[in-house]
Amino acid sequence: MERILEPEVMDDPEQALVYAQADFEQENQGFVDRFREYFPEFTEGHILDLGCGPGDIPLRFARALPSCRITGVDASEPMVRLAEEAVQEAGLSSRITFRCERFQDLAGVSTVDAAISNSLLHHVPNPLQFWHKLRLAVKPGSPVLVMDLFRPASPEEAQAIVDRYASGAPDILRRDFYNSLLAAFTEDEIGSQLARMNLTRLLIDVIDDRHWVVSGIIH
Ligand SMILES: C[S@@+](CC[C@H](N)C(=O)[O-])C[C@H]1O[C@@H](n2cnc3c(N)ncnc32)[C@H](O)[C@@H]1O
Repeated sequence: MERILEPEVMDDPEQALVYAQADFEQENQGFVDRFREYFPEFTEGHILDLGCGPGDIPLRFARALPSCRITGVDASEPMVRLAEEAVQEAGLSSRITFRCERFQDLAGVSTVDAAISNSLLHHVPNPLQFWHKLRLAVKPGSPVLVMDLFRPASPEEAQAIVDRYASGAPDILRRDFYNSLLAAFTEDEIGSQLARMNLTRLLIDVIDDRHWVVSGIIH
């Protein structure tokens, strides 16, 4: 099945709210736990989260790594507003900040000590821009962890995944999940992207029936 692009930025306020209210506990905490498992020596520094959405992952990182600060970047105003509210409510505004801009346009952030991104890449028309920016964003020797969906073989398979994991979810969330699966990349496509960007030291792992993870140190 060919990739079918979905809108890049999730800037409809209702869409952002439904996403913020959805339960991504298992996925998001799994992402944080994986980072800690892969990079146990990383305990302090500045982490950049590309496509941070409503801020649940930055919050989980801030709690898990109390000596880290996190900058979240998202191009959606409603998402960033929700993220700022959540961080304020958690009393973590001194360690988590947000920037509302497209990662492609990101400038003026000094290089960071680690970069993370969950579920952004499938939104991006040109994925090479993402890997390019990721590499530019970090200091040499920094860990990176990127996770996203992979594209199933057919629309029917995509629908079956939505039914399996989001059966009782609101229609907007189910629609976005389906469209995201169709817009996602296959493992082979990710491998080609890393090869083209000379990032072959990063490893790709398929961790379940719908997610891949890319991890490693950027030199
Ligand atoms: C599916 S959400 C994932 C949010 C978050 N990472 C999480 O896992 O909960 C994807 C997010 O990427 C944002 N996004 C899409 N394209 C972007 C871009 N070019 N620059 C910055 N953010 C972008 C969307 O607005 C949306 O909030």
